[in-house]
Formats: sequence, C-alpha cells, structure tokens
Amino acid sequence: MATSTSIHGMWSSRFAFILAASGSAVGLGNIWRFPYTAGEYGGGAFVLVYLLCVGMIGIPIMMAEVMLGRRGRQSPINTMRALAQAQAAPKVWQFVGWLGILSGFLILSFYSVVAGWTLAYMLRAGMGGFAGIDAAASSQVFSSLIADPWQLLLWHSVFMVMVALVVARGVSGGLEQAVRFLMPALFALLLVMVVYAATQSGAFVQGLEYLFRPDFAEFQGRAGEAILSAMGQAFFSLSLGMGAIMMYGSYLSSQASITQNVVIIAGMDTLVALLAGMAIFPIVLANGLAPGSGPGLIFETLPIAFGQMPGGQFFAVLFFLLLLFAAWTSAISLLEPLTAWLVENRGWQRPVAAAIGTGLIWLLGIACLLSLNLWSDITLFGKGFFDFFDYATSNVLLPIGGVLIAVFAGWVLSRQVTAAELMGGERRGYLLWRFLIRYISPVGVTIVFLNAIGLI
Ligand code: PHE
Repeated sequence: MATSTSIHGMWSSRFAFILAASGSAVGLGNIWRFPYTAGEYGGGAFVLVYLLCVGMIGIPIMMAEVMLGRRGRQSPINTMRALAQAQAAPKVWQFVGWLGILSGFLILSFYSVVAGWTLAYMLRAGMGGFAGIDAAASSQVFSSLIADPWQLLLWHSVFMVMVALVVARGVSGGLEQAVRFLMPALFALLLVMVVYAATQSGAFVQGLEYLFRPDFAEFQGRAGEAILSAMGQAFFSLSLGMGAIMMYGSYLSSQASITQNVVIIAGMDTLVALLAGMAIFPIVLANGLAPGSGPGLIFETLPIAFGQMPGGQFFAVLFFLLLLFAAWTSAISLLEPLTAWLVENRGWQRPVAAAIGTGLIWLLGIACLLSLNLWSDITLFGKGFFDFFDYATSNVLLPIGGVLIAVFAGWVLSRQVTAAELMGGERRGYLLWRFLIRYISPVGVTIVFLNAIGLI
C-alpha cells in the first residue's frame, strides 16, 4: 500500500527536505519563544530539561512523524486513516490528523501576529528608530505597538497573505527556493549577534551562566509547570505533534535515511535556539532588564543592542527581515496539512484551499491581537486569547498529538514496517528508537502532564 509519490509533489532532493523541515522547525519558536520561556523559568535548569526533551522525546517522535508521512503520502488525516486501515486498527486514528489541524489553526493565529511585529520592527529599524535607544524607550516602543490594534491588524494581514501565496503555489515549488539561502543567512546573522554580545565582556559570561548553569532552585516551587513548559517548547520548536513534519515527510523520497535527516534537523533547530539565547541574555542582563518579562522579551532587548552597535541600523533591518523569513517558512508548514486535506477530500484547487484556510485563521488572529489591547479583559483560564493559544497549543495540544503519534508508531505499526522504513540506521539505532518511542515518549509526556496538574 505504500505509494512512492505524493499527488502534491515531491522534494527535488534529500537536501530540499532538510531545508524545508528545518525551515519549519526554525522560526519564532527559537528566537522569540525559547528565550522568553527560558527567561520565565529562570534559565539554566529550564534549558537542561529542554535539551533532554529534545533528545529523548522530540527526536524519536520526529522520526515517527516523517516515517508515517512517507508511508502514507497524503495529508495527516488521510495518512493516519490509511495506515490504521492497513494494520487493521480502528479508523479513529485519523483523529490525530484532526487534532493536528486544530493545533495548526490555533498556532498560526497568534504566530502571524508575532510575525507581524517583526514586520513593524523591520520598518522602524529601517527608519533609524532604534538609534541610541535605552531600555525604557525600547519597552515603550513595544508597548505602544501592541496597544495599537490597527497596526497589528495591518501587519498580521500582510503576513497571512504572504503565507497564502506560497502555500497556493505548492510547497515543493515555492518553498524550496526560499529556504535555500535564507536559513544560512539567518544563521550567520545570529553569529554576528553572539559575537557582538561576546564583546560586552562581563555581561556575556553572565549571560552564558544564566543559560547554561542549571540551578533547580530557579524553578521556585513550580517545577511541574516549568518542566511542562520546557517539554512544550521542545514540541513547538521542532514543529511536532500537529502533522507539519508528517506532511513534509510525505514528500520525501523512499531512499532517504530518516534517522540521519532528523538528527540534522533537530540539531540545527537546537543550535539556533541556543545561539538566540546567547545573543539575547547578555543584553538582558547588561541592561538590568527582567528575563521573565514575557513575549515582548526579544522585541524589548534587541533594539537596545542594535541602537549601540556599529552598523546597527543595517543589522537591525537584516535581522528582522531574516526573522520574518524564518517565521514565514514555519507558518507555511502550519497551513500545509489543512490545505492538502482540502485538496484531497474536497477536490478544491490548491489556491482556493489555501485562501479559505488563511481567511479563517486570519479571523481568529484578530481575536488574538485584540486580546493584547481592547479585549484584554476577556480571559480563558486566566489568560487572554493570545497567551491562552500560545500556552495551550505548546503545552497541551502538541504533546497530546505527539503521544498519539508515538503510540501509533511504536505499538500499532508492525515492527516489519517500522524496521523497513528506518532501515538506513543500524540495528542498535533502530532498537534504541523503538524503546524510546514505545516507552519513554508516551510515559514521559504523561508523567510530565500529571505532575504539572499536581496529580503525582
Ligand atoms: N517550529 C516552529 C517555530 O519554532 C513553529 C511551528 C510549530 C511550526 C508547530 C509548525 C508546527 O517557530
């Protein structure tokens, strides 16, 4: 039943898959979300738990997602249904695909708002708006941006149109070209930022200590929540648990080695997050800012550095431009499973499917951006829409999707199938994967959940 190509097209090479999947993984999650969540939970200990989650839960689940996608060659909903049928398992497994569509929907609605901030910042940087700015003025710039619903709406809309345009053309055509040079450029610029931070001698060491010296006292009586957030951040950053990576796996050639590719992708993603932390925390600490100040963190701190460094105006524009592209390539992967499903099941043209998906997410995005200002009183579980979607998708929906994928790959799919798909790796590697996916990922995620809600 395993077909060898997808009706939506295929990656032109294994390298194209690596680029696209790391384009999905590397995004606002690494540069915006990782520093601010690490900052909320005090740094080092959070980072250590995060790294453990990437290695023991994230990598095996990413391998499982790529494998399922490649076997199914369809959108996650249809892939899960077809694979379940082939194993004589109940059709309800397609629920994993539905859950993923929901997660993608909710994530993209706030993701697009944040991507809009990068557009606004790019423009401001280009007009020299950060020259010589201090911490107070920089915070002021950010708060006035999020207090202005019209401006947020404008940038959110521009970004959603950008996403729709690429998805309408089909990922293998539009996307491949874009990521090819943007990823290396982003990487290089982050290195520039880290080098700049390193020249601020005292603060740099302090920043590194903050990030890399685990001190569990930092969790201050909320270890359960901190560990859940570190795990959620791993799912979010690696794009796991919602079918994006499954979708991209469906365009991957049957010859490529899943293990090797996944290790490269997860490695790059982690490196980018750590580099972002190394660039940001020295500036945060040097300027006496609070690491736990929340989603505004990088938008409040980086302008200070750009305002001081030589060539800062140029670097600032370039940085926000690259961040925008990183967000773009991630957002595309958030919209792709829904679009592919509409094409498969409704027989719609791709551009129509992409436009309808975008329109609905755009509407929900308006609720997110209003929750930052006019609707700040409306709360769900004590959080506005923006914060609630951000928290609930990473910490609840993606991990649930991930566990279901792990259980399916580890327990429902037959050993012959998984062994054949992961054949590239040697036997010991396969056995390790199988152990992690059957026991460690599902049990680990469940324990973290129960612990966070105080049941164990
Ligand atoms: N991984 C992306 C980022 O770090 C976000 C994302 C999450 C993309 C889930 C797809 C699926 O920005």
